[in-house]
Amino acid sequence: MKVSIIVFSPSGHTLKAANIFREKFIKKGVSAQLINITKNPNYLNEGSIKKQLEKDLDAHDVILIGGPIYAGHMEAHVLRLIRQFPNVGGKFGALAVPFATYGGVHSSVALEEMGTLLKKRKRKSILGVKIAAEHTLTKTASKTIYKDRPASDEANIIAKAVDEIITSASQDAGDIKDISKAFCYSKPVERVMFKLFSQEAIHKKFKHVSIDSGKCIQCKKCISVCPVNMFDFVDGQVNICKDRRQCILCAECYHHCPASAIVHPYIEPAKVRLKDGNAYVEKVPSAIYSRGE
Ligand SMILES: Cc1cc2nc3c(=O)[nH]c(=O)nc-3n(C[C@H](O)[C@H](O)[C@H](O)COP(=O)(O)O)c2cc1C
Repeated sequence: MKVSIIVFSPSGHTLKAANIFREKFIKKGVSAQLINITKNPNYLNEGSIKKQLEKDLDAHDVILIGGPIYAGHMEAHVLRLIRQFPNVGGKFGALAVPFATYGGVHSSVALEEMGTLLKKRKRKSILGVKIAAEHTLTKTASKTIYKDRPASDEANIIAKAVDEIITSASQDAGDIKDISKAFCYSKPVERVMFKLFSQEAIHKKFKHVSIDSGKCIQCKKCISVCPVNMFDFVDGQVNICKDRRQCILCAECYHHCPASAIVHPYIEPAKVRLKDGNAYVEKVPSAIYSRGE
């Protein structure tokens, strides 16, 4: 059996989960390819995704696709990537497993929307996994939600998921069902709310991250950490080189800037929204969704 794992991970937690998946598969004798699309311009520009995928993707029976949950939705680059998945057939199998990391607060419709798109690309979801991870917007808050996760609890969930994937995928093809309905686990009100409010609509008014040029020391750290390559260095100066609407608000630039020169309009509102008493973590931090559970 062969699997391909594709991951987008602005702050590294989904990548950590993807690597755990890979290790667990390899331990079980399953060959597992990992493609990390973070920072890769060919995967960030819509026009080149298809070609790059065809070039990079090895033959597989199961494709795993993972990313972070932003504003209750799967991060948009991941959804865009699924839309460009190559046709099933030949070396590309029809089975899929979406996985999502989140800061514990809203996993909402993320797996559901991945399952729907996978189905459109003729993939059968055999299970889905939500994985608790450090809430990156609370990194500098008085209390960091799920600090240092994914950790051992999540690794155990991933190990269980790997066992289930191997068992499911070894059935006769005709017996394997798409179980993406199991991803519609959020309360109906929440599902309707997140369907009405897209990630773009929720984040739009905050998308004006900027550099305080008086504070910037031109260390270029922001250039190296930005997962969507928003910064460049021209004429001795770090600049924002893309349309600001392409910023995903991950705050990697803000967290890594040694000179506090990044102005990130979402951090303070997020800290208020996420502080104790204003936000509650989901009852089950990490879970496998399969067979209508
Ligand atoms: C802009 C933004 C929005 C987020 N929205 C949510 C959310 O709605 N619910 C949640 O539980 N976590 C949310 N998070 C936390 C991330 O889902 C979590 O930290 C994730 O593991 C980050 O993955 P990465 O390290 O692979 O980038 C958000 C983080 C950012 C930066």
